[in-house]
Amino acid sequence: MPRDLFEGRPAMGAEDDDTHPDHDDILNGMPELGRSARVHPSYPSEHVEELDPDDSSGYSTPDEETKDKIAKDMERQDALSEMKPYPKGLTISDVESCVKLEDATFPLQERCSREKFEYRFTKCQLSLGMYTSATEDDSESQASSAPTIDTAQIVYSGAPERKLVLLAHCVVTKTTNSTIMDADMALPPDWEESGTLAHSPDPSLGHKEEGRTVCIHSLAVLPAYQGRGLGTMLMKAYIQRIEQSGAADRIALLAHDELVNFYAKLGFEVKGPSKATFGGGGWVDMVLELKNQPLG
Ligand SMILES: CC(C)(COP(=O)(O)OP(=O)(O)OC[C@H]1O[C@@H](n2cnc3c(N)ncnc32)[C@H](O)[C@@H]1OP(=O)(O)O)[C@@H](O)C(=O)NCCC(=O)NCCS
Repeated sequence: MPRDLFEGRPAMGAEDDDTHPDHDDILNGMPELGRSARVHPSYPSEHVEELDPDDSSGYSTPDEETKDKIAKDMERQDALSEMKPYPKGLTISDVESCVKLEDATFPLQERCSREKFEYRFTKCQLSLGMYTSATEDDSESQASSAPTIDTAQIVYSGAPERKLVLLAHCVVTKTTNSTIMDADMALPPDWEESGTLAHSPDPSLGHKEEGRTVCIHSLAVLPAYQGRGLGTMLMKAYIQRIEQSGAADRIALLAHDELVNFYAKLGFEVKGPSKATFGGGGWVDMVLELKNQPLG
């Protein structure tokens, strides 16, 4: 227990000691509950304004917009708890599920290719997925008809019918730039020949192990699961992990205008129009500077 919580507490065995007020004394010393301003008795009374008993402004009644937001948040929380999603790092064994998720989510020109997933998961171990567990024949579970069920992996060998179904992913590499450039998104043509070296033979392309900026290349939630808070949950989990790992100083991404607010709510700042021409261009650079609080 912190030391200050011990202060004013009777010593062990001193409960009957007269020097310690009993509970009734404490309650008697408290101001009566009512509609007058609640202040400490020692506060000079001339500074205390009596409240008009007919004036309800002291209590804040939520307006319709706030009520709608609260109802929406509760609906989302219910939907999220039904899914029981949990985060897990993405590896090369998740490539097929990521390809399916990407195909189901992005227009053709913005999709990450199978080879890019392979490259990114081989060179950088910082990508994160959001999963649920389901069986293929469980008609009650929405995940049993998810596009990623066929490529889902077995949860553990004792229950071969139970699978880990990918619902959302956040796929990244690192760069030495402070925002994302086309070169950061590129696939070095000869990357497979570079063995396990962190650098590709062309040092200007792709992942840079020494970089302090995480580039989010793909954030995607299966269409049937969108709008239920899963994207927000994945991003929050991701930011927290990177912050605690100390692996980077910032997270950068490219957003289309309609998603600027979504990322701003997560703490990302708009840095202006991006120079990146990927997928036809027209992106906004957004960056989140990390607090870097590695776990002790
Ligand atoms: C964008 C995406 C990752 C968000 O995940 P999600 O689980 O659907 O989002 P959440 O349920 O957490 O929603 C959070 C907020 O973002 C808003 N939002 C989500 N997608 C949006 C979109 N395409 N346009 C505008 N607002 C959007 C939601 O309306 C919600 O706003 P609110 O809190 O004010 O109601 C997901 O919708 C998706 O995969 N979209 C397609 C792929 C994509 O565009 N990825 C981003 C590439 S930059």
